Amino acid sequence: MDTKQLFEWSATYHMPNFARAPIVLVRGDGMRVWDTEGHEYLDFGAGLAVTALGHSHPRVTGAIREAGATLLHVSNLYHNVPQIHLAKLLCEHSFAEQVYFSNSGAEANETAIKLARKYGKERFSTDRYEIIATHNSFHGRTMAAVTATGQPKYHHGFEPLVPGFKHVPYNDLRAMERAVDNRTAAILVEPIQGEGGVHIPDDDYLPGLRKLCDESGALLILDEIQTGIGRTGRLWSYEHAGVEPDVMTVAKALANGLPIGATLTRRDIASVMTPGTHGSTFGGNPFCTAVALVCFTTVLDEKIPAKAARVGRYLIDGLRRIATDRPVIREVRGKGLLIGAELSAPAAPIVDACRDAGLLILSAGEKVMRLAPPLIADERDCDRALEIIDRVLAAR
Ligand SMILES: Cc1ncc(COP(=O)(O)O)c(C=O)c1O
Repeated sequence: MDTKQLFEWSATYHMPNFARAPIVLVRGDGMRVWDTEGHEYLDFGAGLAVTALGHSHPRVTGAIREAGATLLHVSNLYHNVPQIHLAKLLCEHSFAEQVYFSNSGAEANETAIKLARKYGKERFSTDRYEIIATHNSFHGRTMAAVTATGQPKYHHGFEPLVPGFKHVPYNDLRAMERAVDNRTAAILVEPIQGEGGVHIPDDDYLPGLRKLCDESGALLILDEIQTGIGRTGRLWSYEHAGVEPDVMTVAKALANGLPIGATLTRRDIASVMTPGTHGSTFGGNPFCTAVALVCFTTVLDEKIPAKAARVGRYLIDGLRRIATDRPVIREVRGKGLLIGAELSAPAAPIVDACRDAGLLILSAGEKVMRLAPPLIADERDCDRALEIIDRVLAAR
C-alpha cells in the first residue's frame, strides 16, 4: 500500500474536519494495531474508548461472521430477534425497563433530550422543556447534542443553537440548585466528564442531582456513553454513586466498534414515545444488535468491569510514580480505565511523541493526557505503556 498516495487522496477527498495523525491503520489484534508501514502500536485509546474487548476478539469476530451471514438489516417496521434479546439483557443489567436503539452517542443523547421534552410537556406543562447541562461537558455533534455540550469551541460557526438549554459549572450542586425551576425537563450530565478532561465529581454530586430531580420532577439523564460498559470499574458508572438515573445513554463500547447507541429508561417515562414519535432506519438493526449482544455477554462473562477496576488502579499508581520524577504531570485522576493526567504543558505534542514511540493515547482538553485502553488490558500492557510515557516525558 502506498501510504503517501493514501495521504494525498485523504486530503483531496475528505472534508477537512478531522486533524488526523499521519498514520494509516490497517489491522488490529488484541491490544495492538498496525499501520500501512508495518509499525506496531499499543492501543491505549481504544478508538476513543470504544473497543473494550480489544481488536479481533474471537467472540466478536465470530458474532460478526454469523450475524453478517444471517440477517444484516430489516427495518423497525418488523421485530428482529437480536434487538429484542439485547434490550432485555440491558434492562436485566441496569436500572432500566425499556430501551430505544440508535446509531451513535449523539443520537442516543438526541433521543434522551426529545424524550425529556415530551415527558415534561405531557406530565407537567407545555413550557417544561429546558435541559440543564454542565460547562466543559461533551454530548456529541448533532445540533441538540452539541448545544448540550458545554464547550463554546464546539458551537462556533453553527449558531443559532437549539433553544432551551442552560449550562452550569460541573460538580457544583449549589449552581444546579439555583438553575432548576419549573421549566426544567431534565438535568443532563456525564458521571465523569471524559472528553472535557477526565473530571470526577465529588461523592455527593450525583446523589445531590438525584435529590434535585426527585424534588422538582426533572429527569436525571446520565450520559454513560464513555463511562458505561465497565470502563470505570463498574458496569455503569452510576453504581459508584449508589443512585439510579431516569434515563441513561450508551454507545461507544456497546458493540465494540460497530455503530450503535441506546437510550435506556423506565417504562412510565418511555410511554410518552408513542408509535410514530421517533425513529431511525438503521437503529437496532439485527447485525449491530447481534454483535452488541455477544459483546455485552462477553463483558459480563469475563467480568470485565472488575478487571478494569484492578488494572485501572495499577495504571493510575504507575502514572503517579512517574509523576514524582516528571513534574510536567500535575495530577493523575481516573476511575477504572478512564484515566487523565493533567499536564503543565499542552498534551498534543506528548500524544504525538507517544505515537511515534509505538503507543496510542488520547488527549482531553488542551492539557490532559487521556488513557482509555481496551478493558482487556493487563498489567504487562500497562508496564509497556508506562515505560513509553516515562521515556517520552524524560526526553522533553
Ligand atoms: C460522554 C459522551 N457523550 C456523547 C458522545 C458522542 O458520541 P458519538 O461520537 O458516538 O456521537 C461522546 C463521544 O466522545 C462522549 O464521550
